[in-house]
Amino acid sequence: MTSVVSSLLAVRDLGLQRDGRWALKGVSFEIAPGEAWGVIGESGAGKSTLLQLVLGLLEPDEGEVRLEGEMWSRVPERARRPNRSRMQAVFQDPHASLPPHRTGWEILQEPLDIWKRGTKADRREAAARMAAKVKFPESALAQKPASWSGGLAQRLAVARALMLEPALLVLDEPLSALDPTLAGHLLELLLDLKEAGTALLFVSHDLPAVARLCDQTLVLYGGETMCQGPLPALMDEARHPYLRGLLEAVPRLEAGHRPLAWGTRKLRVEAPGGCPLYARCPSAQSDCEKGLPFGQALRCRHPFS
Ligand SMILES: Nc1ncnc2c1ncn2[C@@H]1O[C@H](COP(=O)(O)OP(=O)(O)O)[C@@H](O)[C@H]1O
Ligand SMILES: [Mg+2]
Repeated sequence: MTSVVSSLLAVRDLGLQRDGRWALKGVSFEIAPGEAWGVIGESGAGKSTLLQLVLGLLEPDEGEVRLEGEMWSRVPERARRPNRSRMQAVFQDPHASLPPHRTGWEILQEPLDIWKRGTKADRREAAARMAAKVKFPESALAQKPASWSGGLAQRLAVARALMLEPALLVLDEPLSALDPTLAGHLLELLLDLKEAGTALLFVSHDLPAVARLCDQTLVLYGGETMCQGPLPALMDEARHPYLRGLLEAVPRLEAGHRPLAWGTRKLRVEAPGGCPLYARCPSAQSDCEKGLPFGQALRCRHPFS
C-alpha cells in the first residue's frame, strides 16, 4: 500500500525538559515541501531547543518529529542515517561551525565523499557549481575559513549544507553574526533557494526578514506556542502585547521611539490557565490572571498604548 505523505516535516506536541523546567512544551506544526517557516520569540523562548529537537540532536520527553512520514525522533541514530541528507543545518556563527583546518574545496566535497556520490572529478565540479550558486568566489575555495569574512564563511556554510540537496534547510539565527549588507545578501540567497523548492525552517530575530522569507511563522514564548500564521497577517492583526513587544524590540530610527520595557522575564507557570503574559504585561488586569484576554485573532481586550 502506498501512502501519500503531504508533509515534509511533522512536529507533534513536542516537549523537552531542561534543568527540571520545560524548555519546550506542546509545540506542533507541519512543513510542506518547499514551504518556509519562521520561528520567532525572545531570547530563551525555546527556538534553538526546537531546532535541536528537529535535527535529532536532542530527544524529546514528549511528542514526536517525523520526516517525510518516517519517525525521526525517538529512533536510534542509525535509523535516521539513510535520511540524514534530507535535512541539513546552518548555525549562527559560521567560523565556529566550519572545520578550521580544511580548505573550501575540501569542506564542500566532504559530504559527497562521505556519501560516496560521484567520481572525484564529479565532486570537484559539484563543489565549484555550488560555490557559484551561493556567489562564493572560486578563488577563495583554496583558502581556509580563517581567511574569509563572516559573510563569506556563512555562504560557504550554506553551500556545504546544500551539497546533498536537502529537502529541508534548518537555520538558527544565520544572519545574526553578519553586518546588515551581508545579511541582506544572505537573505536574497535564501529567497532564491526557496524559489527553487527547498523548504526552510528559519529562526531569526530579524522580523522583517522572517516576514519576507517565510510563508508561516511560529511565535514562541516561554517554550510554548503563542500563535502561528503568516507573519505579516499576525503583525497587522496583533493587538497582542507579546508580538507588539517583539516588534517594538526591532530598532527604529524614528525620533522619540521608545521600545516597550518588559521588565523581568516570568514564565507561564506563574498564572496557570491565565494569560502567559500576565506577570509582565504593562496593561494586565485582574481578569488576565484567570483566562486569556485575547481570542484566536490575538486581539487583547486590554491593548496598551
Ligand atoms: N544546554 C542547555 N542546558 C540546559 N538548559 C538549556 C540549555 N540550552 C538552553 N536551555 C534552556 O532552555 C530554554 C530555551 O532556550 P533556547 O532554546 O536556547 O532559547 P532561544 O534559542 O529561543 O534563545 C531556556 O530556558 C534555556 O535556559
Ligand atoms: Mg537560540
